[in-house]
Amino acid sequence: MQETSVNQSTFSLERPLDVVVMAAGKGTRMKSRLPKVLQRLAGKPLLGHVLGTAAQLKARSAVVITGHGAAEVEAAVAKTSGDLAIKFVRQEPQLGTGHAVQQTVPELVDDGLVVVLSGDVPLTQTDTLKALIACVREGAATTDRLALLTLDMPNPTGYGRIVRNAQGDHVLAIVEQKDASPEQLQIREVYSGIMAVPAKQLKTWLAKLDNNNAQGEYYLTDVVKWAVADGVKVVAHRIQDELQVTGVNSPQQLAQLERAYQLKNANELMLQGVRLADPARLDVRGELHCEADVEIDVNCVFEGQVHLGEGVRIGPNCVIANARIAAGAVIHAFTHIDGEKLGVMVGEGSLIGPFARLRPGADLAAEVHIGNFVEVKNSTMAKGAKANHLAYLGDATVGERVNYGAGSITANYDGANKHRTVIENDVHIGSNCVLIAPVTIGAGGTVGGGSAISKSTEPGALSVARGRQTSIANWQRPQKTPKAK
Ligand code: UD1
Ligand code: MG
Repeated sequence: MQETSVNQSTFSLERPLDVVVMAAGKGTRMKSRLPKVLQRLAGKPLLGHVLGTAAQLKARSAVVITGHGAAEVEAAVAKTSGDLAIKFVRQEPQLGTGHAVQQTVPELVDDGLVVVLSGDVPLTQTDTLKALIACVREGAATTDRLALLTLDMPNPTGYGRIVRNAQGDHVLAIVEQKDASPEQLQIREVYSGIMAVPAKQLKTWLAKLDNNNAQGEYYLTDVVKWAVADGVKVVAHRIQDELQVTGVNSPQQLAQLERAYQLKNANELMLQGVRLADPARLDVRGELHCEADVEIDVNCVFEGQVHLGEGVRIGPNCVIANARIAAGAVIHAFTHIDGEKLGVMVGEGSLIGPFARLRPGADLAAEVHIGNFVEVKNSTMAKGAKANHLAYLGDATVGERVNYGAGSITANYDGANKHRTVIENDVHIGSNCVLIAPVTIGAGGTVGGGSAISKSTEPGALSVARGRQTSIANWQRPQKTPKAK
């Protein structure tokens, strides 16, 4: 048996990771009552993206620093934390990024490796952070280093500049825009706001921070200076992909990041073979899984968890959320599907829409047809059942090959409780019928158009429940009375 040696670069990955997320800032430029880190990108709060990344890193804990809108942020996160142990510390008032991280000191255990992230930088990839973490103890190194995530920006205005030694192999300082000399302002390499650092050393450096700078703030970036003073090497993990470190400060930036994210996601789908009519006109706000030969027309929005089986075709302008669409099904234009918590299931080869609405618990078997202006909620429809025009099926069990006529509805709600309608195999429901639940239409039965059915019917029967037609021969319609002069 071969022995695998633990190489040094994996050492730092095996140390317990504690992620610190700065999320106390106000986000003034968003001009929103919602705290910035709760603004949504791809349907998910910015902070949710960051904590998702922390969870993928298998962090031991995440310490979230809150301030502006703290209670709201904490409540929103508590709901979506998954497996990750999340702690909150409050920073009030907000005296800078260094002051923010100082608040986490009581929560940080000395054996840990700390990764500092910003709650408003949502798209950093897990692999990038793993590579950054590996820089803390690289190759044959026996001591820890401070690792910074950096990148070159064509326009570095506003960012902290990376000042390197003469050889350029390590970092001497990060200088903020407002404190930089004209020469330093020429530097294109900027600090992303993300660093990896052993907890024990971070604590000693944080204790030394001051606010003697242009902004009168405690800068986290000054830990670099103290690391250098302690003889600790500061290294940069330099990446190319700006998207991964772009922060959100304004609605414009949020929209730009959203478009960039969506385009990237669309390209990934196309790499898997999905055929998109226009990659710029697709929005995935959640997870979209596609089997082979899926085609998606323009302006479709997918939310939550959506699974599209082999050969599924989605027409233009559809909104599909929390649903499984089986192989060969076709969803025509302007269809709205939202399974919410219960989910929606569309069976193989089914035809849905145009202008159809499938709501939670719509469970359609193979070859079901749902036509225009048909709404289905919490109902099962067996193989080959059809409701082609202007109809409502709520809390219904519909058998195989049932034909449900135009304008017919299940009256499932008596004002207090909901009741089920059972329509057995091979039933034919005429147009404009009201099936008043609870009621069962026996197999093979027929319901005459315009009937209001309140009693269950026998298999094979024709049931009609409406006023009998009477005709009066030669009926004279009223005449218009002449106007008096
Ligand atoms: C910071 C870095 C800068 C880097 C840039 C990258 C410092 C001093 N500078 O600058 O080198 O290029 O990020 O985007 O760190 N926050 C708090 N409490 C505070 C202040 C900020 O929680 O008291 C949070 C903010 O909500 C935000 C993050 O920290 O999530 C960054 O703060 P921000 O004010 O945007 O820092 P920058 O000036 O952009
Ligand atoms: Mg910023």
